[in-house]
Amino acid sequence: MEHGPGAYGLPGRHGSFWMETTAAETPHPPLPGNLETDVAVVGGGITGITTAVLLKRAGYAVTLLEGNRICQGVTGHTTAKVTALHRLIYKELIDRFGGRPAQQYAEANQAAIETVASLVREYGIACDFARKPACTYAETEEAREKVADEADAARSLGLPAAFTEDIPLSARSYGAVVFENQAQFHPVNYLLHLASLIPGDGSRIYENTRALEVQDGGGRCTVRTASGTVTADTVVLATHYPFYDAPGFYFARMEPSRSYALGVRLDEPFPEGMFINADGPAHSWRSQPAGDGGELVIVGGMEHRTGEDVDTRRHYRDLEAYARSVYPLRSVDYRWSAQDYITVDGVPYIGPLAAGHENVYIATGFRKWGMTNGTAAATIITDMIRGRENPHAEVYAPDRFKPAASARRFLAHNIEVAEKYIGGAISRPAGDLRDVAPGEGRVLMIEGKKAGVFRDEKGRVHAVNPTCTHLGCVAAWNSAEETWDCPCHGSRFDADGKVIHGPAVKDLKPRGG
Ligand code: FES
Repeated sequence: MEHGPGAYGLPGRHGSFWMETTAAETPHPPLPGNLETDVAVVGGGITGITTAVLLKRAGYAVTLLEGNRICQGVTGHTTAKVTALHRLIYKELIDRFGGRPAQQYAEANQAAIETVASLVREYGIACDFARKPACTYAETEEAREKVADEADAARSLGLPAAFTEDIPLSARSYGAVVFENQAQFHPVNYLLHLASLIPGDGSRIYENTRALEVQDGGGRCTVRTASGTVTADTVVLATHYPFYDAPGFYFARMEPSRSYALGVRLDEPFPEGMFINADGPAHSWRSQPAGDGGELVIVGGMEHRTGEDVDTRRHYRDLEAYARSVYPLRSVDYRWSAQDYITVDGVPYIGPLAAGHENVYIATGFRKWGMTNGTAAATIITDMIRGRENPHAEVYAPDRFKPAASARRFLAHNIEVAEKYIGGAISRPAGDLRDVAPGEGRVLMIEGKKAGVFRDEKGRVHAVNPTCTHLGCVAAWNSAEETWDCPCHGSRFDADGKVIHGPAVKDLKPRGG
């Protein structure tokens, strides 16, 4: 049953500007049966597509599998800043890891900007790639010292950083750290072009082919899907949260986080640059050619842990109110949201999945900076598969995990969340089906069993068993997107229970099932 989120007084039309301005359909068929390949890449976002392109250029036969359509997951919903300025991170990295790992992170992300720039240049990709300064500004007086420290830390790592008193954005600012010569682009136009380079010479893309299982015990690996098995020397999991965890314990080492974006029009030109505030709920700004000669301004932020908020619609409203407090808005044209993962120590996991699973690679936990971290992941994993040393790999190593005090708190929180949502608070849902208003979703107890019930705008009831098919937490209703979102590891399902985002690979059961 098809339906999309209703308006409910929310600003703009529901849909990412990137996806609304590119072809709705991509041409790749589902996997037709069993096949063999050198490398199986699972996931058709920036990490998977860039990895596949780099490997193909290096002479490998690559098979890319995407559970839905390429470029429509997290990458299709990003704010698409191609920058090494990740809000505030470098002081934190130096304090936590020391100078060398921090330098690796800095260089990997700076290098990723140049990788994107050279691919755009080499293939003549029309994706509005533009060099811009990136800026993290202090919205409060307390944050001023933090941005000044960040400028010092970043400069000490060789990044093009400076502290400035003034920024051209109309938002309140008590000073800012600025990185020159960063970039922005239209991510879907960029990736659709890159993806078009993959098929041929033994390489392929299959869409609507969800990977269900990986087996990598000795010899070659297999990726099982509903329509066939791909046998490969190497598997790259580029699906954000890995649906195949093996003994990596990623389920305890990352948390899913959602954030929101609006595409708005101003009466005045947007200032040169990309902007984000230093602390508190994120406020992120950039502009984008709108395609009609005008300019769209993308304002984003308002992040929260997935599944932990009962009224997600308010984040769009809050974001609109915030944007209007900075600029008079001529219109709000689009609204969309995205999900990303944050690791225990804030640095992505990129590399072999776990000891004994060296032929399966993972790239995840980009902390909302996936354009550069995802590109860096593609470069690092390509080098690893080719047996070449990569100077930036060490800081991202998935096995670096050492449970510092902050990490123990993080783990404890994750366990608490799992306990809460497997049993605890959700085990006593109240209410009656008749109480569920149009546009509302709730977990109810019906005939002694939990039911996830959503009543759509036409009054039709959609009912599922809300028990997540990943590890059994109870999914929560996301009113803004009309999806069931799992608070434990971020699996997402549509109102009828179909998987739209892993790690779950199976749909929710029908109510009572
Ligand atoms: Fe892991 Fe739901 S995503 S239990």
